[in-house]
Amino acid sequence: MGKYIVEGQARLQGELRVQGSKNAALPILAATLLTPHSVVHNCPNLSDIGAASNILEYLGCRCSLEEGTMTVDTAGCCRDDIPDNLMREMRSSIVFLGAIIARCARARISMPGGCELGPRPIDMHLSGLKKLGVSIRDDYGYLDCRAEHGLHGAKISLPFPSVGATENIMIAASVARGDTEIHNAAREPEIYDLAAFLCACGGKVQIDSSGTVYVSGVEQLQSCEHTVIPDRIVAATWLSCAAITGSRLHLYDVEPQHLTACIPMFEEAGCELRAGESTLDIVSPRRLLPLRMVRTMPYPGFPTDAQAPFMAMCALSSGTSVFVENIFENRYKHAGELCRMGANIKVEGRVAVVQGVPLLHGAKVECTDLRGGASLVVAALAAQGDSEISEIRHVERGYEDLEGNLRSLGAKIKKVEKSGDIC
Ligand code: EPU
Repeated sequence: MGKYIVEGQARLQGELRVQGSKNAALPILAATLLTPHSVVHNCPNLSDIGAASNILEYLGCRCSLEEGTMTVDTAGCCRDDIPDNLMREMRSSIVFLGAIIARCARARISMPGGCELGPRPIDMHLSGLKKLGVSIRDDYGYLDCRAEHGLHGAKISLPFPSVGATENIMIAASVARGDTEIHNAAREPEIYDLAAFLCACGGKVQIDSSGTVYVSGVEQLQSCEHTVIPDRIVAATWLSCAAITGSRLHLYDVEPQHLTACIPMFEEAGCELRAGESTLDIVSPRRLLPLRMVRTMPYPGFPTDAQAPFMAMCALSSGTSVFVENIFENRYKHAGELCRMGANIKVEGRVAVVQGVPLLHGAKVECTDLRGGASLVVAALAAQGDSEISEIRHVERGYEDLEGNLRSLGAKIKKVEKSGDIC
């Protein structure tokens, strides 16, 4: 099992290119099923993207990822099921459901379980697809879904702006008969990127300023080429690494517009930020200030995926910060690991109170999930002494060459595959 060994307190300096967005690429890869041939540029090379291409290949498609470009050829697609082992590889495999039903009029997938972030229900995905004409039977842990009379448009109102449910419905509706409206849809940049992909394939998708998605079904989608948006959470993580180490950093190939909730928080912590068209510069103070209140919210609110890296920053700040996690029930597992490094964090339900300490110390810690793992790296970069961070497979789901990127800035971090093997 891989580990990072981090020698803390190195000052960082330099520039990083921000990778393509994992959470934008995944639904787009699912939607490629509805096209004959797709070329997706800026696709990050991550284990979750590998899991998505394993699903496409299992279904009979041909995929290749070369130098950030994923090519998907669906001519050989001959299956309509996803077996349990592939569903378990990645929780967000559920986003393939709408695409498979739309292509095959049937889908059989194993029921996704909970995950590191707590229970992950899919009721909104299923009720949305039912409105489009899908009948769903729970068959001993498998979902047997059929659209015997084809898919048709519908008016759907989501009780919560779920990102995955919005994506599943958009994909299925793009080739349904008639018009679909999704009210209270998610408004994350990844939703707009999926809409851009579908439109590039000849789909008809529009999103108004209130977040309602309008889809006019077309008979079929065409082959197309698309470039995935930059990953806003990876960008926020790199900025957190610079902030906590009192460093300067230049990010390029970033979309500052997607970080409008994070940038004021870095400023409240005492950092100076300068945004260009596709660049962001950060200059950080010697010691960070606390953040009065960080409430995670659906976009354009503060992203739940950035909560953990910000918590690491606040752990070393000069006062008390309060976090309220409104999206996931169980997203503070990293707090206990940060405490092993000397942080003072009290968690009570959805609230975490972080009392900044003057010094974190290196420790043996374990990644509990993707962003929680990233927060341990952020903390270890600033801690005094060495940290050993295990279970880094979680981090590798979302960060391309994390250690190489940080090393290029002067960080002292190495990856150890097994005991003794340094990569
Ligand atoms: N929910 C339901 N029923 C549903 C769907 C969602 O109750 O049918 C609940 C969830 O349990 C959760 C909340 O609604 O409490 C939000 O879930 P949402 O569906 O919006 O999230 P998701 O689509 O499962 C995506 C990202 C997550 C990100 C969230 C919120 C992908 C692949 N995943 O998940 O990313 O945290 O949106 O922005 O796009 C990550 O990258 O680390 C990550 C977890």
